[in-house]
Amino acid sequence: MSNNFYRKSFITVDYLTVSDIEILFKKASEMKKLVGRSDGDERLKGKIMAALFYEPSSRTFSSFITSMQRLGGGIIPLNGMGATSVAKGETLEDTAKVFSSYADIIVIRHNQEGSARIFSDNATVSVVNAGDGIGEHPTQALLDVYTIKSHFGSYHDLTVGMIGDLLNGRTVHSLTKSLLKVGVRKFVWISPKALKMPENITDKARKSGAHIIETEDLKKVIGDLDVIYDTRVQKERFTDLAEYERLKLAYIITPEIMKKAKKTAVLMHPLPRVGEISPQVDSDPRALYLREQMRNGMYIRMALLDLILNK
Ligand code: NCD
Repeated sequence: MSNNFYRKSFITVDYLTVSDIEILFKKASEMKKLVGRSDGDERLKGKIMAALFYEPSSRTFSSFITSMQRLGGGIIPLNGMGATSVAKGETLEDTAKVFSSYADIIVIRHNQEGSARIFSDNATVSVVNAGDGIGEHPTQALLDVYTIKSHFGSYHDLTVGMIGDLLNGRTVHSLTKSLLKVGVRKFVWISPKALKMPENITDKARKSGAHIIETEDLKKVIGDLDVIYDTRVQKERFTDLAEYERLKLAYIITPEIMKKAKKTAVLMHPLPRVGEISPQVDSDPRALYLREQMRNGMYIRMALLDLILNK
């Protein structure tokens, strides 16, 4: 199996093969062992990662930073571009050229769909998409699939439910496409009518032969789910804030609701949560969001940086 990540950009999950995913997961498991054994090593010594986050971030930003540092690399950490020339009106195209002169790899988060692609077209080093508007969040999807694989051992016959803002949530877009690649064929999409999964994702899933149920009624379907993937209603994508207020807590996962879920199910969330999972659920052993799901983000990002920067 060859490393197709080497010196490439990673903007979308669309071009990943099953073998790419396997290589990445194998490397992520090595990283988990490495961190357990010795916290990290020096394999990226001399390499620099610029993290350019035009939009807020806690986990994605910090886990990329810590991943680079754990492997001995250097960082240009910009969490917010307000203190850079972007505030003076510098274009995405120019910024791509600027940071290509200083860094060996650039991680970018931006509020416009398609921005990471434009950025990578103008950069001369590898670019990783850390979220482009409502488009994609490919590293989140991979850490989510890795978490599912690590938990269940295989994807065989899993029914994956996704809850919340399926229209604007980039995590569920990348996640659905990634799960289709590894063979998941049963999806239940639970959302208010106004926040349904976009047509292009639904079409892709149907064309792959997936069985899809779309519903507004969480209680009716929660007992059928192996993976319960909850998401936040994406306030920053709404122009009508009254509409956001109306939809934001359409679903709240409580211990009561979790009683209806399978004993063997897992509850995941990319975080941050803003009320849609009650804190009383955190101690439920099925809740992975504050535990392995988040931690796996670091192993996956360590693996990706190593695969992109080292042959
Ligand atoms: C997600 C994002 O930025 O899309 N956060 C994350 O990276 N874990 C989800 C969200 O903000 O709701």
